[in-house]
Amino acid sequence: MAEITMKNIVKRYGDGYPAVNDVSLDIKDGEFMILVGPSGCGKSTLLRMIVGLEDITSGELRIGGKVVNRVAPRERNLSMVFQNYALYPHLTVFENIAFPLRLAKTPDDEVRRRVNETAELLELTDHLERKPANLSGGQRQRVAMGRAIVREANAFLFDEPLSNLDAKLRGQMRTEISRLQRRLGVTTVYVTHDQTEAMTLGDRVAVLRKGVLQQVGSPRELYEQPSNLFVAGFIGSPSMNFLPATVDGTVLDTPLGRFDVGDRRKVEAVGDRSLVLVGIRPEHFEDASLVGDERRERGSVLRVHVDVTEWLGNELYAYIPYEAPADVAAQLRELSQELDSDQMRTQAVVALDASSLISPGDEAELWIDTSRIHLFDPATGENLTRDEERVAALGRLADKEREAQRRVQRGTPSESGGTAASGAESDGAEAAAG
Ligand SMILES: Nc1ncnc2c1ncn2[C@@H]1O[C@H](COP(=O)(O)OP(=O)(O)OP(=O)(O)O)[C@@H](O)[C@H]1O
Ligand SMILES: [Mg+2]
Repeated sequence: MAEITMKNIVKRYGDGYPAVNDVSLDIKDGEFMILVGPSGCGKSTLLRMIVGLEDITSGELRIGGKVVNRVAPRERNLSMVFQNYALYPHLTVFENIAFPLRLAKTPDDEVRRRVNETAELLELTDHLERKPANLSGGQRQRVAMGRAIVREANAFLFDEPLSNLDAKLRGQMRTEISRLQRRLGVTTVYVTHDQTEAMTLGDRVAVLRKGVLQQVGSPRELYEQPSNLFVAGFIGSPSMNFLPATVDGTVLDTPLGRFDVGDRRKVEAVGDRSLVLVGIRPEHFEDASLVGDERRERGSVLRVHVDVTEWLGNELYAYIPYEAPADVAAQLRELSQELDSDQMRTQAVVALDASSLISPGDEAELWIDTSRIHLFDPATGENLTRDEERVAALGRLADKEREAQRRVQRGTPSESGGTAASGAESDGAEAAAG
C-alpha cells in the first residue's frame, strides 16, 4: 500500500498538445480518489502515466515516497482494471484470477489460498471451475476485479470499469467496489464520467478540464462549494442553472426577475463587476405554494412563465426559457457544449416537489433558497462566493465519514461508543447546520 504523489505532471503527445497539463495531486495511503471530467480531458492519460504505460513528459511521480518516473510498470506493483477487461476464455475462473500469481511464479498452495480468499470476497466461490463464457456480465466483471486484487498491489487503478454494464448491474457493482476498497484499504484511483459513481464511490474527487486540474475535494465540497463555473456545471444533474445578472444593493436583476439575496457578504464579493452569473441548482427552487411561511422568509419568490414540465414520480422538473444578452448566451452555449450537456443554456431547469400542480403554460410562483446560490465572474468563471470556512468544515466531515465507513467495513465499533454509522450521521447533521 502506498500514497501516490504527482507534482506538476505534464503529458505532451507527438503533436505537442498537452493532454495532461501541470497536474499536482496527492493521493493518501488507502484513499479512494476519483478522476472525472468530460471526454478527452486526460483522465486515461493520467492513469496510464501512474501505471507506467505512458511516459511522463515532465513533472514528478512518486509512489510510496519513491520517484518512479523511470521505473518499469512491473516494478511499480500496481493493479489496473480497464473498461474492456479481457478474460482468457479457455481458462477457468480460478485460473483467470490466478493469472498474475502464475506469472510471478507463486507457489501452488499460496495461489490456491489467495485465489480462494479473493473469490470469497467477490462471492465467486461457486463459480471457480466455470469458464467466462458461461458467466453473467456482472460475474465476469467480478472475475476481472479478482484478477486485479489477488496480487498484493500497492494501489488499484480503474479506468471506467463499469461502463460496459447495464444500469442495474452498474449500481450493484458500484456498491461492491466501494465495500471492497474500504475493506482492503488499498489506495485506489478510479476514472469515470458517470456522475453517480463520481459522487458515491470516492473519498475525494478530482475534476479535470482539458488536461488541467480544476478542483479536488470531497463530493459534498464539489457540490456545495465549487471553485468555478466549470465544476459547478459539471457536478450535479440536472446541471446548475447560470443566470446573467446585474447587482443593485443586495438585489440581483436576472432574466427570471429581481430577487434579494439577503446576504450582504455575497454581493460584496462582486466588487465593481457590472455583470455576474448567478448559479442556482434546480433542487434549490420550490413551488412557492408548497413552502411554509418560515421557510419562505429565508428565500425569495419569483413569478415565472413555465414552458414544459416533466413529472418523474419523485419530483417534477419545470423548464423556464429566458432571454439573455447575446454574448452571455454564446458563453453559456460554449460551456454547455464543453460539459457534454444537451441542456439549452438560456432555459432554467427547476426540480420541484412531485406534489406540485404547476403545469405547462402556467404563470407560477417559484421560491428560491437564496442561501444556496453562488455568484460567478463571467470572464474568468471564478466562484466569487466560495466560503472557505465552510470548505474546511466539509473537509473535516469527509475525514470523519471516511473513518466511519472503514470501521463499518472492518466491523470495529467507533471509539465514541454506539455504531460507527450513527456517529457519521450526527457529524453530518452538525456540518449541515454549519
Ligand atoms: N496516443 C495518443 N496520441 C496523441 N494524442 C492522444 C493519444 N491518446 C490520447 N490523446 C489525446 O489526449 C487527450 C486526452 O485523452 P484521454 O484518453 O486521456 O482522455 P479521457 O479523459 O480518458 O477521455 P474519455 O472519457 O473519452 O476516455 C485527448 O485530446 C486525446 O485525443
Ligand atoms: Mg479514457
